[in-house]
Amino acid sequence: MSQNRSFQVDFQHRVQFTRDALDPANSALADVLAHSVERRLIVFIDDGVHHAHPDLADRLANYLGARTRCGDELPELRMVEIVSGGEDAKNSIDVYEQVLTASDRHGIDRKSFVLAIGGGAMLDAVGFGATLAHRGVRLIRMPTTTLAMDDAAMGVKNGINQFGKKNFVGTFAVPWAVIADELFLTTLTDQHFLSGFSEAVKIACLRDAQLFDQIERDARCLRARDLAVAMPIIARSAALHLDHITAGGDPFELHEARPLDFGHWAAHKLESMSSYTITHGEAVSIGIALDCEYAVRTAVLEATVAARVRACLQSLALPTWHPLLAQTDQLARGLEEFREHLGGQLNVTLLQSIGASTEVHVMDRAIVAASARALAPR
Ligand SMILES: NC(=O)c1ccc[n+]([C@@H]2O[C@H](COP(=O)([O-])OP(=O)(O)OC[C@H]3O[C@@H](n4cnc5c(N)ncnc54)[C@H](O)[C@@H]3O)[C@@H](O)[C@H]2O)c1
Ligand SMILES: [Zn+2]
Repeated sequence: MSQNRSFQVDFQHRVQFTRDALDPANSALADVLAHSVERRLIVFIDDGVHHAHPDLADRLANYLGARTRCGDELPELRMVEIVSGGEDAKNSIDVYEQVLTASDRHGIDRKSFVLAIGGGAMLDAVGFGATLAHRGVRLIRMPTTTLAMDDAAMGVKNGINQFGKKNFVGTFAVPWAVIADELFLTTLTDQHFLSGFSEAVKIACLRDAQLFDQIERDARCLRARDLAVAMPIIARSAALHLDHITAGGDPFELHEARPLDFGHWAAHKLESMSSYTITHGEAVSIGIALDCEYAVRTAVLEATVAARVRACLQSLALPTWHPLLAQTDQLARGLEEFREHLGGQLNVTLLQSIGASTEVHVMDRAIVAASARALAPR
């Protein structure tokens, strides 16, 4: 006798872009913590963010105090802890264990909050811990890098790297809220500020030709770190990622296709081949260039469009080649690892034109190798 059921669950994905979130006049954070006077809050700060903003914990305590005095019913701040930022956060189990230990020690229940302030890597690792404690406590992400704001923090995924593989261990979970404060971007290195735009180029290529034109046109201002130009591009990229997650019909990646992973099979492999010295954003840029070249060689994409995408990435000071691309046997193993991560048959997204893509299920190794060679600077 079959007892099969089908059921739906409604999720809220609360996302707010703001400026100076810890100014007591700014209600964004207080709004998502509201009506929680009996609850608790523990906070984790990326060490890179802590270094650049040493007063952050004090400002947060001051913010919560001021808002409480004005009548907001906010949770009790129990602890602020500095944790490793960057890919180190995902290359060991330390950060997620710190989250579990603190959740236990401070009596964090399912209606209490974990606030994570940091780059995409740290958010992934803290988020992983937060989704395991009591099978999931309320996670608030405050992304502090371009990439975390235009992509990573919008995702419904958490995880860490293991066995030399990106994101081998992880969970799907919708965060309680995401609050993106543009002021954090001012303290990034040029490398980390710019490398996050590869995800905006990625989603523009797939979904929004106008956004691609805008990035192309504004590259010089982006390189000059003009936030008035950068923020609309970052917010548009975030919105497109959110659209895909909330309206694309497959937020938890049950289907085989994962179109937003354009350029990512090679990116993930290059990151691990380089022992994570290539950043995710840079690796995505190289991965996009490689898959565009492959698409040209398999008659999916016009050579002029591939050249345009490459030029756009280069105009943002992003790499479109790396010497590791010469290790084609090792690189090609990334295809099987990518397939294994998604399950089922291989699905690689190739660009057909700016704004349109297709899926292929086989990648010819010889053409991958030739494409990689073709990207090398002459
Ligand atoms: N969960 C998802 O859906 C998703 C999506 C895309 C990417 N990611 C992951 O995101 C990670 C990359 O994230 P990233 O590009 O943000 O880099 P990152 O998290 O590695 O941070 C880069 C560096 O910047 C420092 N930093 C962060 N914010 C700072 C600030 N405001 N001022 C000064 N320094 C600061 C960090 O300490 C780190 O050293 C990868 O691990 C990638 O796999 C996850
Ligand atoms: Zn990515």
